[in-house]
Amino acid sequence: MIDEDGYFGNRVAERYDQSSSPQFQKDVVEQTVDLLAEFAGAGRALELGIGTGRIALPLARRGVPVHGIELSRAMVARMRAKPGGERIGVSIGDFATTTVDTKTDGPFSLAYLVFNTIMNLTSQEAQVACFRNVAEHLAPGGCFVIEVMVPELRKIPAGQNIVPFHTSPTGWAYTVYDTVTQDATCHYIEVSQDGRGEARTVPFRYVWPAELDLMAQLAGLRLRDRWDGWTRKPFTEDSTQHVSVWEKPTS
Ligand SMILES: C[S@@+](CC[C@H](N)C(=O)[O-])C[C@H]1O[C@@H](n2cnc3c(N)ncnc32)[C@H](O)[C@@H]1O
Repeated sequence: MIDEDGYFGNRVAERYDQSSSPQFQKDVVEQTVDLLAEFAGAGRALELGIGTGRIALPLARRGVPVHGIELSRAMVARMRAKPGGERIGVSIGDFATTTVDTKTDGPFSLAYLVFNTIMNLTSQEAQVACFRNVAEHLAPGGCFVIEVMVPELRKIPAGQNIVPFHTSPTGWAYTVYDTVTQDATCHYIEVSQDGRGEARTVPFRYVWPAELDLMAQLAGLRLRDRWDGWTRKPFTEDSTQHVSVWEKPTS
């Protein structure tokens, strides 16, 4: 259900940090923060869709000043309730268009958008605007890092458009793909102990690595690295995700 917090209202926010997704595992969070801290260097970092501070808080503990842009006050409230959460600056708004003051503290050396969150922008226009917005916040030589899945179209048999990605005795989740519009609509269904069900639908737009490179180019950024994950494994035709880094040229 969508409200003023987008698709991450109170009900989602209160359970968000209990996710069983691999991205939430301690070692993966550490690898993520290691790489982001390296790109931030001595500068500051901008997280788009900062959420509950899953990555921002450990990055800040490494000494990197982090500022977030976030639509959901409910998610930010969860971050604020954690140690150090009250010290992270957040601008409430859409990360495709919201601007953060760079006059006082200078531009950012790093902007990042993890855990498939670029796909929360459901039009190509909005995704392009996001790259342009990031480019305006970066210092020359600064980097934009995205972690996102490779579209799963190889998993779709001819004549079908649905890919299940979670099944358990009490829950199911699946994506309905529209290969014309690049819409990927995720449906989550959960059954509680009293047998009642809860269904949630979230729209996404899947996006190809090469399409992201073109968006970067339109924003004046250029591809610097692309890996299969945070440990810098090579990105190959079998990769199911990528961590990509685009750089703002120094001249
Ligand atoms: C999958 S969560 C990721 C949160 C956090 N980055 C993490 O890795 O745990 C996506 C977050 O992006 C926020 N979000 C989605 N679309 C947004 C938009 N257009 N502008 C600002 N925030 C957005 C959601 O409210 C949510 O908190």
